[in-house]
Formats: sequence, C-alpha cells, structure tokens
Amino acid sequence: MDEGKALRILLIIGGGIAAYKSCELIRLIRRNGGEVTCVLTDGGAQFVTPMTLAALSENSVHTTLWDLKNEVEMGHIQLSREADLIVVCPATANMLAKMAAGIADDLATTLLLATDKPVMAVPAMNVRMWGHAATQANVATLRDAGVMVLQPDEGTMACGEYGAGRLPEPDAIWAAIARWTGSGAGSAGEAAPKEEQGGLGGLIASLIPRGTKTRAAAQDALLADKGSARISPDDLGPRATATGFGDAFDGAPLAGRHVLVTAGPTHEPIDPVRYIANRSSGKQGFAIAAAAAAAGARVTLVAGPVTLDTPPGVTRIDVQTAREMLAAVRTALPADVAVMAAAVADWRTRDAMDQKLKKRSSAPPALMLEENPDILATLGTSDARPGLLIGFAAETQDVVENARGKRTRKRADWIVANDVSGGIGQSVMGGASNTIHLVTQSGVENWPEMPKEEVAVKLVERIAGALENIDD
Ligand code: C5P
Repeated sequence: MDEGKALRILLIIGGGIAAYKSCELIRLIRRNGGEVTCVLTDGGAQFVTPMTLAALSENSVHTTLWDLKNEVEMGHIQLSREADLIVVCPATANMLAKMAAGIADDLATTLLLATDKPVMAVPAMNVRMWGHAATQANVATLRDAGVMVLQPDEGTMACGEYGAGRLPEPDAIWAAIARWTGSGAGSAGEAAPKEEQGGLGGLIASLIPRGTKTRAAAQDALLADKGSARISPDDLGPRATATGFGDAFDGAPLAGRHVLVTAGPTHEPIDPVRYIANRSSGKQGFAIAAAAAAAGARVTLVAGPVTLDTPPGVTRIDVQTAREMLAAVRTALPADVAVMAAAVADWRTRDAMDQKLKKRSSAPPALMLEENPDILATLGTSDARPGLLIGFAAETQDVVENARGKRTRKRADWIVANDVSGGIGQSVMGGASNTIHLVTQSGVENWPEMPKEEVAVKLVERIAGALENIDD
C-alpha cells in the first residue's frame, strides 16, 4: 500500500444469498476512507445488481472477461494491480475450490490466478458444504498459499440448518481488513469522523485506539525513524563496541544501514489471564539485533514478550500480539534489511474475553480461532519492502524443502531454516545453539551447529556482503 493514499479494495462478489451483505461492506470501507472497485460473478449477479454496486462504490462494476473495451483500456491484470487488497466476499464453496485448483474460467477467477496482491476470502455456504473434507482441504491449500481465509460465523442459515458457514457480519469483515492494514484494532463504530481522515494514514490513525501503549510505541518509533533509513556513521557512538560482540566485525560493515529485526513469540489473549503462545525464547533474534548493532547498523528490534535485556545501541519496541507486531514493523519502515526471526502465533482467539473464563460443570468452553496476519509475507508484497528480506523457518521435518516453499510463498530473499524437533529443553527453542540451513535463490548452505551468537555474526556478515552487491 502507498502511504498517504486511500486503501484500494477490489471486491469480488460471489454467488450466494450473503451477497447482499457485500453492499454494506462497500459502505463501511468507503465510510472509513477506502475505495472499492467491484467484480461481480454470474452467480453474484443473481443476488445483487451491477447498478447497486456501482451506486454504492461510485466506480464501474466489472462482470466479464470479454469486455473488449476494458481489456484494451485496463485489462483484468491491471484491475488487480490497482488494488492494495482483493477481498472475495462472499466466497462460495465453488469459488474456494476454483481458487485452490487454479481454475480461471471467468473474470473473478482469472484475476485471482493472475494477481500478486494479498487476497482475503470470506466464506459463506451451507454448514455441510463448509464442513466437507473437500472444502476444508481447499481452505488449507489457500491458507498455505498465503490467502487470508476468514472463519465463517456459526448460526442459523438461510436454508434453515444451524452451524458454521454464515458470512461474518460486515463490521467484522471490515475489522479484519483494518487489522490487515496493520492498525491492530477497530470496528466500524470506532472509526474517526470522516473529516479527521486523510487517505490511508488517516484510516490507520482512526483505527489505532487512542492512548494505548501500542499507539505510543508506534508514534515514538515513527518519530525516531522519520526521514531516511540511513544514518551517518558519526551518529554511531559507542554501540559498536558495547554490544557484547566486541570486535566480531572488521570495522562497521553495516554503518548507515537500518536493520529491522522481529524476535520472540507473540501472546494472543484468551482472557485477561490466559493466552496462546509458543516456546520461542527470542535469543536468536536478540543475538542478530546485537550483532547488527555491533556491525554499525541502526537497529530496530520489535520484540514479543521475552525476558531478555535490550542489546546496547538497539531501539526496542515491545509488543504482545501478532497484530501489534505487524503495526510496529510497518511503523519502523523503511529499512535496508528485515530479519523476521519472531515465532509469530499463526492463530489468535476470535473473541478474547474481557473477564476471566470460569470453569463450568458443563462442557469446557470452545476456543474459536482466526488467522493472524503473516508479517513476513505482508512485507514481501509491500511497496516498502526492504531490499533484503530474511525469514526464518522452524520445522520439525523436511526442513530444507519446507523452507524453499516458504521463501517463494512469502517472497523472502533468504530463509534461515532450522530443525526444532526434540523434547522440551532439548529443542532449539530456548536452547543456546542452532544448526542452520540458509536457503537463498542460488541454493542451500548447511552451517554446522554453533552458538546462537555465532549464527548471528555469520548471518550479519552475509547480510553486509549481500548489501554491498545490491549497491554495486
Ligand atoms: O509459516 P511460518 O510461521 O513457519 O514462517 C516463519 C517465518 O514467517 C518467520 O520468519 C516468521 O517470523 C514469519 N511469520 C510472520 N508472521 C506470521 C507467521 C510467521 O512474519 N504470522
């Protein structure tokens, strides 16, 4: 997305009774400063008309692949190029199946196959269709490919059956879009009045709750990082010798560079006392931040909840959740290099409770989960993508093969892959050493087992070398 510009959404409306809710969604997006262009499938046109969508969006509505005028002037690929996000709403079982299989037999599916923009699908279908193994396999395939597939609501369906498959309410869909923009919060009701908003900046500002720690941290970081990503080597001060990495580097090979690092786990609240998390200690990410500072870089470290000290010379932004981490990362940009070492929770609870959940004599409470934004993949397609984007892959099997897939899928330059199998206390998670496979475009380097600090130094040396080549 271009900073300062309105959020542009390409809304694909599939064929289902829930299509009428997309009309309300258009209103919500526009009320919050966004722009919408609609693509209506043949099925969708059975439920809403192009005229309604054109009136609500104040944009042309696209219905066919065979519109020669548009093919000449705009073309289906251009349609998606002009969007920041494609939202398929409602996404029928048939639409999800076509998307998963790569079928392109109409305008909607063709541009979905051709696009390189982030895609969000909002399913709506009968409960049995949603629960069918074929649909669930399609959803898994799409999520694996980076599509954000929202969880349908549970309730009474238009067909009279009860269960999961209802389209979420438009304000919940809008909240998911707002979360994707990195704002970390918001229902339509919380949005600022229109006159306060200015483009995407205004949209995001309107959605970050005022007075929260995240907002304060984001603003601090914004102020600290305003202007160029480069700093003068004269500004480096004593950091290069005060990081515990001593004279690990010959001079300051990253002088004038801004390195952004994420580290640690994220905590996704269930209620005020419980959360979902993983075993990441943050040690490897912190070591990389320290090594980059020792190499002379300006370093921003976005850290999940860990008990580690901030390495000297490093600007640290503490976050709890994946959405806060994404917001902090966006705010810290631009950067020359991003090293995404955090073990971000893949899911969060859909409805975190304000009050502690109580034990009941009946069944235990069911936790409804929804997908977190993928920070690495978001950066991979961002206009502000750092010149060198590095992800991590913690795997328990087929380490290199999985890392290769991740590199392509998330549009990273390198993936630092490691095997995290092993029991509690014996695994790399929380341990002192690491065995790395560095997966790049040109192949795989297998590094011997070494302490995490040495991994950090070796990686920073590789980063410095790569940046020199990028500059050449
Ligand atoms: O898909 P997986 O979690 O294994 O990918 C690992 C890489 O993706 C790491 O670099 C991690 O920091 C990043 N990631 C992310 N946001 C997520 C999940 C993973 O940035 N929601």
